[in-house]
Amino acid sequence: MSEPLKLAVAGLGRMGTVHALHAHELARDGRECELVALADTDLERARRVSVELGLNIPIFSSLEELAKASVCDATIIVTPTDNHRNHAATLITAGHRVLLEKPLTGSLEADREFAAELDRSYPQSLMLAFQRRFDEPLRYAKQLAESGIIGRMFKIYSALEDSNPAPNGYRSGGILPDMSVHNVDEILWLADRSPSKALAIGSRIYSHALTTCEEDFDDALLYLWFDNDLVAQVQVSRNHVSGYRVETILFGEEGQIHIGRFEQRPLEVLVEAYGRRGRAEPLVRQTFAMRKYDHPLPEFVDRFGAAYKAEVAEFVACCQAKRPFPTNQQDGVRAQEVISAAMQATVGLDQAARVGLY
Ligand SMILES: NC(=O)c1ccc[n+]([C@@H]2O[C@H](COP(=O)([O-])OP(=O)(O)OC[C@H]3O[C@@H](n4cnc5c(N)ncnc54)[C@H](O)[C@@H]3O)[C@@H](O)[C@H]2O)c1
Repeated sequence: MSEPLKLAVAGLGRMGTVHALHAHELARDGRECELVALADTDLERARRVSVELGLNIPIFSSLEELAKASVCDATIIVTPTDNHRNHAATLITAGHRVLLEKPLTGSLEADREFAAELDRSYPQSLMLAFQRRFDEPLRYAKQLAESGIIGRMFKIYSALEDSNPAPNGYRSGGILPDMSVHNVDEILWLADRSPSKALAIGSRIYSHALTTCEEDFDDALLYLWFDNDLVAQVQVSRNHVSGYRVETILFGEEGQIHIGRFEQRPLEVLVEAYGRRGRAEPLVRQTFAMRKYDHPLPEFVDRFGAAYKAEVAEFVACCQAKRPFPTNQQDGVRAQEVISAAMQATVGLDQAARVGLY
């Protein structure tokens, strides 16, 4: 058996704490990895995480120090998006394989430059964290669609709505690169192709006023055209005050598949497939129980906890087997290309047509 992969987590805020917990559990439950270091500019925060996990491992105040220390083979980077490129490059050039939280860099130009650098010099060093690819309900729905149960698919609807604004101090490049990147990657994965045209609509309607996080919109829609035979609609907002809402609907000529239905029961995810009108029973109905953690974590962990852990497990397995990652820099570029195109054709209040003039 090979030696455990020596793993670090850098950035121990909302998401980094979750990755550290899962890395620790994977280390405790198997021999595939070992959590050997943490890094955060906020040393107090990193120490708190270390104590909560019962660890006694080095804590670094920068990724440069972590790289110099040569204590590990791989790192999960969960620092703010505007640090992603610099932090990933620092560790990759020091020889680490890296699981980088989404989005790749937050801008299309930087995504393309960084992906080209990686493709040239370190093509298999980076896995991009798109946890939906590891989510059981979504994987099951993808299999159902591929089995032909709903016939030819012509529309995908994908919604992601937070119940709160982004926290004070959170650094976002805008609601579309920050949130809809999940939906767009999901759609490209489900459709297995990229759209040819895109537009966006957005508003600042409610929760932007409740946070110091600066974002273009707190509510937005994307409309994507895939040639003439498939469309996709994305709905993202930070205004779903009743709770985290994640729903996807696949529309086909012979029926529909629904993944998730908001009922204020975040730990149950229902996947249903219906045939054409008139059928008495759903074709398929399966409930997936999400993991209940024994202490409060951000709301997205209620829905995707198991997927986040499976993503880290896959990262470790790929590092151990020295095999390519299932997602990489090019997936980040592809999703950002769609979002950036839509942002060139964004309709807001100022561009909308005045009612009554025509
Ligand atoms: N996949 C998902 O569902 C998901 C959910 C939330 C956040 N994210 C992504 O995770 C990343 C972090 O988001 P978050 O919500 O955890 O942010 P956060 O602000 O809660 O945490 C960021 C952490 O990074 C630390 N940090 C900041 N600058 C640093 C530096 N130069 N060196 C080392 N540490 C530094 C901060 O002290 C903080 O602890 C973002 O890129 C975000 O897009 C992904």
